[in-house]
Amino acid sequence: MCGIVGYIGERKVIPVLMEGLRRLEYRGYDSAGVVFFRKGALEVVKTKGRILDLEEKLFEKCYVDAAAPGLGHTRWATHGEPSDKNAHPHFDCTRSLAVVHNGIIENYYQLKSELLEKGHFFSSATDTEVIAHLIEEFLKRGCAPFEALCKAAKRLKGSYALAVVFKKDPEALFVARNQSPVVIGLGEGENFVASDIPALLPFTREVIFLEDGEVAILTKEKVSIFNPEGKEVIREPVKIEWDLASAEKGGYPHFMLKEIYEQPEAIQHTSLGRINQQNGEVDFSADGLSEDFFKGIKKLFIVACGTSFHAGLVGKYLIEEKVGIPVEVDLASEFRYRNPLINENTLFIAISQSGETADTLASLREAKKRGAKVLSICNVVGSTIARESDVVLYTQAGPEISVASTKAFTTQVCMLLLLSFYMQKRVAKREPDKNELEALLSLPGILKKEMSLWHEKIKEISKKWYFAEDFLYLGRNILFPIALEGALKIKEIAYTHAEGYAAGEMKHGPIALIEEKVPTVVLAAKETGIIYEKTLSNAEEVASRRGPLIAVVSKGAEEFYKLTQDVIEVPLTVKVLLPILYVIPLQLFAYEIAALRGCDIDKPRNLAKSVTVE
Ligand code: G6P
Repeated sequence: MCGIVGYIGERKVIPVLMEGLRRLEYRGYDSAGVVFFRKGALEVVKTKGRILDLEEKLFEKCYVDAAAPGLGHTRWATHGEPSDKNAHPHFDCTRSLAVVHNGIIENYYQLKSELLEKGHFFSSATDTEVIAHLIEEFLKRGCAPFEALCKAAKRLKGSYALAVVFKKDPEALFVARNQSPVVIGLGEGENFVASDIPALLPFTREVIFLEDGEVAILTKEKVSIFNPEGKEVIREPVKIEWDLASAEKGGYPHFMLKEIYEQPEAIQHTSLGRINQQNGEVDFSADGLSEDFFKGIKKLFIVACGTSFHAGLVGKYLIEEKVGIPVEVDLASEFRYRNPLINENTLFIAISQSGETADTLASLREAKKRGAKVLSICNVVGSTIARESDVVLYTQAGPEISVASTKAFTTQVCMLLLLSFYMQKRVAKREPDKNELEALLSLPGILKKEMSLWHEKIKEISKKWYFAEDFLYLGRNILFPIALEGALKIKEIAYTHAEGYAAGEMKHGPIALIEEKVPTVVLAAKETGIIYEKTLSNAEEVASRRGPLIAVVSKGAEEFYKLTQDVIEVPLTVKVLLPILYVIPLQLFAYEIAALRGCDIDKPRNLAKSVTVE
C-alpha cells in the first residue's frame, strides 16, 4: 500500500527520492517523508499530506548538502492516524538508524511492550517504529547493521517491505521483504530500491525482485541478496519493457482518463500475440501454457478483489458457456477464510492487476496447499502472485497508475475471453466461433471510433446528474458484473453511493429506492436476445415509478428513447464482447461525475492502488 523508494549513488539524493515518490503516490498519500545523510548524521523531513507538501517543506529548508544513501516513503495509514509524527521514516531512540516500511507488523503490540520495558522511547503510534527500536536493541548487543536487521526481521510477524539506513554505515542501504513487494533497480555505480516498478522507470529497467524472507544490501557498486538462512542468492535481473511515457499523463488531466483512452491499444497488445496469425487460433505457448495443464480439471475457482473480482464474474459466464466446466468466483478475503472444496482436479485462477494483493495471494497459497493448479492473470511482470503461479498470463495493459482500475479490467476480461476460447478448443474439444475471434480483433478499432462519441454524450448527461447522491446500476447476465463495476467506479472516485444489481433482482429490494432524485443506469444489449427484453421491462418498472433512467444500450434500441433521452448507444457486436464495450461508458461517466464534483480522481480518499494488507 505505502510507497517506498531508496537510492545509493552519486546523484543528488532528494530529486531522486522525490521523483520516485511522485510515481508511487498512487500507493498511498496521507503523509510522506524522506531521510538522507547530512553532515555525517541522518536527517528526516516528513509531513502529513501529499508529496507536494513534502516538497514545500524540503524547499523551505533548502538541503543543498543532502547526500545518499536516502529513503523516501508515501504512506497509507494503518496504525496511527495520518500526522507528521506517524509519517515515515522512523528513528530509533538515538537516531542511529531510520526505517521506512510497507505492510503491517501483527505482533507490534507485544514487541512494543517489550521494548518499552527495556526503556525505549517511542515518538509515534505506528507499528513501524517498533522495527527501528528492535534493530537498535540488536545494535546495542553488538550486532553489525546487517546482522541486527536480520535478527529483528526474524522477530517480526506480518507483512513488511523494509528499507533501512544506518548512521554508522553511509556506504550501504538495507532492505528486507516478507509478503510485501520490494524491487531493486540496478544502475551503473548506483542502485535503487522501491516498492513498485514505476518509481524506478526514470532511472533503470534492470530490476531484481526480492523474495519473501530475503534481505539485501545495496551499495553503489553491488547488490547482495541473502535468503533467510543467510546464504547469498544469485538472481538474474529482469528487464522491464514499460516505457516512461506510459507512466506519465501525456497531456491528459488525469491518469484515469488517459488509461480509459489507452484501452484499445491495451486490448490489442493483450490479444494480438496470443492469436496465431496463420490459423486464427488462440495460442498460449509463449506463456508456457499447453493443453496438458488442463488434464483432469473438473472445476475452476476464480478468486480476486475489487475490480478484478468483477472481471472474474465475467469469466464465469464465458468459461461455463464455452467449456462446460463449473466455475466458482469468490472474493479473496472470503475465500481464504472458508473451507473451499479443492483438490488436484481444481484449477485456481487468481486475477490481480498488481499481482500483490494480500488476500488474493493468501488465497492462492491456500489453494496450492490443497493441491490445486494455479494460473494467474496479472499485469505486473515478476509480481508475487505471478511468481507463485504455475502459469501466468500477463495482461499487456502497461502501468496503471490511477487508483480506479480501467484498462486493467478490460484486459483481464480480454484474457479470460482468450482463455475461454483456448479451453473450448483444447478442453471441451469444440471449435470456437470464428466470428467472435474476428470481432475481438476488430474491437480496438471500434473502440477508438466510439469512445469520443460516448464521451461527448456522457459529458452532457453528467451535467444533469453530478449532484445525485444515489445511483442504481442494473444489468443482467454477462452485463450484471458490468453493473457492479459501474457502481464501484462511481463510488470509488466520485464518493457517490451507488448500487449495482442484477436487473431481475431489483423488485426484491432496490425498487424501494426509486424516486425522482435517484437515477438508474441500465445496461441492455440486443445481442442478449430475450435478456434484452427482460431488461427493458425492468427499465419500464423504473420509469413508471418516476425514476430517471440513463440507458447504455445497443445502437437503434428505439424502445429506450421512449423512456429517456439520456441514451448512450453501443454498436452491435458479439455477446462475448459486451462487457468490454459496456464498461467503458460507465468508466467515462464515473470520471465526468467525479470531475464535476471536484474530486481527486487519481487518488481517491482512503483508497490505495495495491492493497498489500488484509
Ligand atoms: C484495490 C484497488 C482496486 C483493485 C483492487 C484489487 O482496491 O483500488 O482498483 O481492483 O485493489 O487489486 P489487484 O491489483 O489485485 O487487481
